[in-house]
Amino acid sequence: MKRSIFPAFILEQLRAIKHFFPLLGQTLYWMCKDLWHSYSVKRNQKENLAELMVANHVLEKGITMPGHRLGFGYERVRNIIDKCGKYIKDYSPNHIETQCSIDILAQYYNLHVDNHFELPDDIIKGIQEMKKSKLYDTKLCYETTKSEYFAPTDNFKDFALSRHSVRWYSDKKVPDEAIVNAIHLAQTAPSACNRQCVKVYVITTEDKKKAVLDIQNGNRGFGHLADRILLITADMSFWLCYNRNSAFLDAGIFTMNLLYALHYYGICACTLNAHLSIKKQRKLREIVGYSESEIPTVFISIGKAPEKFMVTGSQRVEHETIYKIV
Ligand SMILES: Cc1cc2nc3c(=O)[nH]c(=O)nc-3n(C[C@H](O)[C@H](O)[C@H](O)COP(=O)(O)O)c2cc1C
Repeated sequence: MKRSIFPAFILEQLRAIKHFFPLLGQTLYWMCKDLWHSYSVKRNQKENLAELMVANHVLEKGITMPGHRLGFGYERVRNIIDKCGKYIKDYSPNHIETQCSIDILAQYYNLHVDNHFELPDDIIKGIQEMKKSKLYDTKLCYETTKSEYFAPTDNFKDFALSRHSVRWYSDKKVPDEAIVNAIHLAQTAPSACNRQCVKVYVITTEDKKKAVLDIQNGNRGFGHLADRILLITADMSFWLCYNRNSAFLDAGIFTMNLLYALHYYGICACTLNAHLSIKKQRKLREIVGYSESEIPTVFISIGKAPEKFMVTGSQRVEHETIYKIV
């Protein structure tokens, strides 16, 4: 047998990194492709609609935010009026995204009229103009009660339809046992080759919660009300470089299962992005204390429901547009 000039441990490392350069090439290729297809670079009808849906959601979050002050979001409202108006002029009003803009703008307008708050003239005119293009109803933000929201059901369809991101929390504590039970139930999530690389950190102390919320960009106006913040990480040491994307997929599947499990145990939850710079990730690791091989994938703010609260409509696009039978 031919003997190698390298000691065994070096050969082992060389074998481990043999995927590295092909992966680097692939990553650069996908990065360029993603950048081209990202709606911030290439704008056409589809990208404009996607952008409109995000703008709509930001405004509906404002409408449902606990303790919002009237007269909020003028720039956001003007932005939707501009974008939606341009879209209708260039293409057509007959899209769920544009209809959703019109409904959310009308809800914003009604909220101010009902509370005798005078909006700037250009906003009133803009909204009236948009309303002329209304063709059909979309889902509006609405108020619900604790008992309606957690109405028991044995029917999975009803259960799935009843879950929403909830950004209102009472000052009651979520018992540790309920969180642990939800995490246990969420472990029914499938994972690639049953690897189970996902970990959950339950951030509990006031100072750690505040430090984490300061890093996360998307909890303004409600994060401080949450009883705990959950952090979901994926342990990259379970993967080789070429299949690392599956780590994020497994974390996503686990997260959805956990959202259902929290809902089942009567806990309000809102997923929060973990779009963090390397610097912020380092800071987060210092606060939470996860291992160096783990990557933060997403946060979830949780709390007990108040007696009454608001949820966003979060209208989905027409299901016919997201599938194709081939
Ligand atoms: C990966 C991910 C990141 C999210 N990040 C935030 C966030 O930072 N802040 C927020 O208020 N909502 C966030 N959300 C919640 C979405 O806005 C919400 O899921 C979407 O509008 C659909 O509404 P629903 O959850 O009520 O069905 C996030 C959701 C996901 C899946």
